[in-house]
Amino acid sequence: MSNSQTIAVFDSGLGGISVLQELIRLMPEENYLYFGDSANAPYGVRPTEEVLQLTMRHIAFLLSRQAKAIVLACNTATSAAVEALRRRYPQTPIIGMEPALKPAINKLHGRIVVMATEMTLREKKFAALLDRFRAEAEIIPLPASGIVAFVEEGITSGEQLDAYLEQLLAPYRNRKVDGIVLGCTHFPFVKERIAQALGYPIEFFDGAEGTARETQRQLQQRQLTNSDESTGAITFLNSSDDPQIIQRCHKLLRA
Ligand code: DGL
Repeated sequence: MSNSQTIAVFDSGLGGISVLQELIRLMPEENYLYFGDSANAPYGVRPTEEVLQLTMRHIAFLLSRQAKAIVLACNTATSAAVEALRRRYPQTPIIGMEPALKPAINKLHGRIVVMATEMTLREKKFAALLDRFRAEAEIIPLPASGIVAFVEEGITSGEQLDAYLEQLLAPYRNRKVDGIVLGCTHFPFVKERIAQALGYPIEFFDGAEGTARETQRQLQQRQLTNSDESTGAITFLNSSDDPQIIQRCHKLLRA
């Protein structure tokens, strides 16, 4: 294993680019291989077994490309597959994600909405989080898979998105909430529109920065960080045959 090998970043599509942004901010010298399974997105409305199979297949591919670590930049894929992946590849650092409920509760009490995919909200990882924190705040799970399709199309503003968000968040316009956990990596790209749809200032929490820090910690622990001084390379791969998709990845990375 060489330290200049890539960190593979995996998502069902383009959402994990919000995590890639934080990884690059923290470790610009690393080389990244980002793979999005946009041909099969959204994952969040599929049966868990299907997401497990898709994730296992794509991670096997990324490891065949000599990745030194795997970042599951997808809450949904993590819920379905992180345990199976760690069992299959015990030597590889595999960093998963979960909705950032803990930092939200550390800072706020009161009413906290957790926006995520249907799958993330029904799986046992989230049930365990709820059990742990339910006494400390009113936690409101809100399935919001519809946002994924917008971001996959590269749409992060505009009338259609605003109409969708206004309808989704209508119950919370008057019955105010104190914070929103963005428990899907596609959602940070539209957080200004979410705030706008709510109509009052709101604090957001997402797992991108924490995941980047955890990745750095695990690489340091195994002495796998890249010591090159120069900026690393970023390669995008995607399962979709849409000719625009790679261009969209670069655009979201700069967003
Ligand atoms: N980006 C994924 C997540 O963090 C989910 C998107 C999807 O449903 O495909 O949960």
